[in-house]
Amino acid sequence: MTVHQTQTPFTLTTGTGAPVADNQNTETAGPGGPLLLQDQHLFEKLAHFNRERIPERVVHARGAGAYGTFRVTADVTRWTRAKFLSELGKETEVFLRCSTVAGQLGSADAVRDPRGFAVKFYTEDGNYDLVGNNTPVFFIKDPSKFPDFIHTQKRDPYTGSQEVDSVFDFRGLSPESTHQVTWLFGDRGIPASFRHMNGYGSHTYQWQNEAGEIFWVKYHFKTDQGIRNLTAEDAAVLAGKDPDSHQRDLRESIERGEFPSWTVQVQIMPAADAETYRFNPFDLTKVWPHADYPPIEIGRLELNRNPGNIFAEVEQSTFSPAHFVPGIGPSPDRMLQGRLFAYGDAHRYRVGVNADQLPVNRPHAAEARSYQRDGALYDGRHGRAKNYEPNSFGGPVQTGRPLWGGTEVAGLTGNHPAPLHAEDDDFVQAGDLYRLMSEDEKERLISNLATAIAGVSADRDDIVARTIANFAKADADYGKRLEAAVTERRGK
Ligand code: HEM
Repeated sequence: MTVHQTQTPFTLTTGTGAPVADNQNTETAGPGGPLLLQDQHLFEKLAHFNRERIPERVVHARGAGAYGTFRVTADVTRWTRAKFLSELGKETEVFLRCSTVAGQLGSADAVRDPRGFAVKFYTEDGNYDLVGNNTPVFFIKDPSKFPDFIHTQKRDPYTGSQEVDSVFDFRGLSPESTHQVTWLFGDRGIPASFRHMNGYGSHTYQWQNEAGEIFWVKYHFKTDQGIRNLTAEDAAVLAGKDPDSHQRDLRESIERGEFPSWTVQVQIMPAADAETYRFNPFDLTKVWPHADYPPIEIGRLELNRNPGNIFAEVEQSTFSPAHFVPGIGPSPDRMLQGRLFAYGDAHRYRVGVNADQLPVNRPHAAEARSYQRDGALYDGRHGRAKNYEPNSFGGPVQTGRPLWGGTEVAGLTGNHPAPLHAEDDDFVQAGDLYRLMSEDEKERLISNLATAIAGVSADRDDIVARTIANFAKADADYGKRLEAAVTERRGK
C-alpha cells in the first residue's frame, strides 16, 4: 500500500500499526530522570535508522534514474527475433540509470569520469538489461584487471584519497588504456548533464534471428538534446556549487515536461566477418569504425517519468549484463563474460537474494515463474505452488530453445592473451582519435591530461615517462606536445 500525505493528518503509528502517543518527548523516569526501556517507539526509531543504508555500489555508486519508453523505428527482424524489437512502432517500458564511476554516493556529478548508461527494457520475454557507458570503449580488456583498475580510482589504503600516482602508474603499465584515457581527457570527458551525452552498449553482443543466424552488434544511443560538455574549469566550480547538478537536471527536465530522448542505432557485423575483421571485434578497447559498419537507426528511447522514491527505485535498482531475452546474447568479449558473473553477485550482496522481486527490478510485461524461492525478505508470492522441477502439479517448464546461438571454439584451455587481428595494437585507435580532433580540441586534451599527469609525485618521473610513452606511440605529435606541457607544469 502506498502511504499518501493528505490535508487531514492520519494517526502516526509504529511499524506494526499501533498509535504513537508522543513523537517529541521520550519516556523518562520522572521529568529529569533517565530513559525507560519500555519506550519501544524510540528504540524502533533508532534501530531502524541504524539500518537505513545498504552498501553502495562498489562502482557507479552515484547516479540518477528515470522511467520511459523505447519505440522501434526500423524493421530489424532479419537480425534478431527479440520480441520487443519485432514490430515498427512497438513500445516497451524502460528504466534508465546514469551514473559516475569512481565517486561515492555523496560525491559531485560534474567530474571527469565516464558516465554509466544502464537501461532496463521491461519486455514481454522478461527484462533485458543493457549496462553500458557514455564511452564506446573501456580502459582494459580482461576482467581480472578490473578490481586492480578500480582500486586506483578509489581511495588509497594509506592516504584515504584517490592518488594520482596510482592512477597513472596503472595506466602507464596498462597500455591498452591509451584509447579510453584519450577519450576521457578530451572534450567529452565531463558531460554537462546526463541528458547531453550519448550512451553506448560498448561491448559487442549477439543477435540471433528466427532462422537461427547470428550477428554481432554494437549499440549506440545518440542524444537528441545534442552533446554538451563542461570545461575543466567550469566543472570544478559547478561540482563545488551544486554537487547534484546532473541528478537535479534530469529530474527537473522531466518535471517540466521536457522529456530527454536518444536515437538508438546499431552497428551490425555478419558472424562470418568476425574472424578476419581488421580489429578483434570482441576487444572492448576498440571501436568498429563507422566506415566499416555504418550505424543503423532502430529506435528512440524517451524518459518521461521520475521515480517516486529514490531509495526504492534507484538505490535498489539492479542491472545485469547477464539479463538477456530470446534473440539477444553475449559475445566472447572476455570483459563482458566476466561481467556476466559480477553483477548478479553484487546484487545478492548489496540488495539481497530477492532483489529481482522489487518493483523496479521485477518484470513488468512478463511474470517471473522460477523455482528459486525463499531467502531474506521473500514475500510469499508463489503461495503453495510446488518448489521443485520436474513436477506433475502444473509447474512451469523449460522451452527447450536457447535464448541465443552457439559459437564455435577451438584450442586448448589456458591463460591466453586476447587474439590480435591484422591492425590490432594498443595505440592505433587512440592515435586515430587524436588525429580526428581539431587543433582546439587537441589543445584542451593536452592541457587536461598534462595538468593531471603533472600531479604525479616529484620523485616518480618513471611513472610520468611511462605514461607519456604510451601517448607518443599513439601519435608522435601527441607525445611530444604532452611531454612539453607536463615538463612545463612540473618545472623540470
Ligand atoms: C570486468 C569488468 C567489470 C566488472 C567486474 C564490473 C563490475 C561492476 C559492479 C560490481 C557494479 C555494481 C553493481 C551493483 O552493485 O548493482 C557495476 C556497476 C556498473 N557497471 Fe560495471 N563492471 C565492469 C565493467 C564495466 C563496463 C565495461 C561498463 C560499461 C561498458 C560498466 C558499466 C557499469 C554500469 C553502468 C554500472 C552501474 C549500473 C547501475 O546503474 O546500477 N562496467 N560494475
